[in-house]
Amino acid sequence: MKGSLTHEQLAAAAAEFGTPLYVYHAEKIGEQYEKIRSAFSIMDTSFFYASKALTNINILRYIKSIGCNVDCSSINEVKLALFAGFEPARILYTSNGISFEEIEEAVAAGVHINIDSLSNLEKFGKKYGHTYPVGIRIRPNIMAGGNLKISTGHDTSKFGIPVDQLTQIENLVSEYNILIRTLHIHTGSDIKDPDIFVKGMEVLFELIPHFPELEVIDLGGGFKVPYMPGEKETDVVLLAQKIKDTFDHHPVAGNHGAGRKFSIWFEPGKFLVSQCGYLLAEVTVVKDTGNMVFAAVNSGLNHLIRPMMYDAYHHIVNVSNPDGQPKIYTITGNVCETDTFASEREISEIREGDILALFNAGAYGFEMASNYNSRFRPAEVLYKENIPHLIRRRDTMQDLLRNQELNS
Ligand code: LLP
Repeated sequence: MKGSLTHEQLAAAAAEFGTPLYVYHAEKIGEQYEKIRSAFSIMDTSFFYASKALTNINILRYIKSIGCNVDCSSINEVKLALFAGFEPARILYTSNGISFEEIEEAVAAGVHINIDSLSNLEKFGKKYGHTYPVGIRIRPNIMAGGNLKISTGHDTSKFGIPVDQLTQIENLVSEYNILIRTLHIHTGSDIKDPDIFVKGMEVLFELIPHFPELEVIDLGGGFKVPYMPGEKETDVVLLAQKIKDTFDHHPVAGNHGAGRKFSIWFEPGKFLVSQCGYLLAEVTVVKDTGNMVFAAVNSGLNHLIRPMMYDAYHHIVNVSNPDGQPKIYTITGNVCETDTFASEREISEIREGDILALFNAGAYGFEMASNYNSRFRPAEVLYKENIPHLIRRRDTMQDLLRNQELNS
């Protein structure tokens, strides 16, 4: 089974497990991985799934089973990856703004690490010298990504060590004899234009002669996925070809005879798991206010924050009445502040009790969910070989009360 889950499969999951519900499709993740794996088979490339997009242990285990590695953005994600069975050599920890204690924990776990500040680089040098290979996250001063909130490589971004601080980096590396194995950049999310990756590589290429022990060029994540009908994802075949050409034509970086040999690493999140996921919600109220028809669902920005946080478009289908007469609706949640999922969208006729499916909910959906308004976070279900498996139960009152102390 490839592509999307059917309306029937989604409706069946809602009937069996209740709503609101996150439903994922394992084979879609496999399909996306296969696209990048085969596109980049023309060069030495490894992929580390950016697990911040969706960390359910069953998803991590599936990612592992298809041969993909994992990228982490906190020490707890590293621990989840270890729990899911990844060997340390298949785990990358790309840190930002973290305490040095987390880096020490990551070293003790034996995982790959990218450091993103001069301060941590210095502490790392003092403690580990040349004994543990490490990567540096460089801020290339490039503007990229779908919107400013998800742009990370520009010249006012907090991420990485600015490329113009090369001298300070070099001073630390030589003072403590640090073993720099990787140069890393991640310029943003939702990047369609392959030339942005090429631009980033060119910035890193300038740095290569300064790091004689370099083996890895890590270009981060950020491949675009289609959110709106008709939108296109990053052309990964074209991207792979452009990256190979850029390498091949570079006198120092070129993977040709005289040049040094490098592996390319990527950290895709959305590309692997965005399209595999759906948020299913039940219509609780249809309200015609004269100038608008609202359909309120039993979910909200507490479960899927992307529309309110990034003005993100999520396609919505009425899976219990897919062939109904199309009408214009504004879809809202039940949270006690404005939580619009879609404004004046054409959707097949909505009746109270219908099940709406919000598409592209796999990446940064459940993962950014909260208990705001003391609502329960949804359950999660994974369809694998056409069978739906419950992979996280819905919260209960115990979950809301857990960790609270009756102390006053
Ligand atoms: N590597 C690093 C260092 C990152 O910071 C990120 C994402 C990725 C890889 C994966 O990027 P992706 O392939 O998923 O675009 N919550 C936002 C996206 C935030 C991305 C944060 N970093 C959203 O829902 O659009």
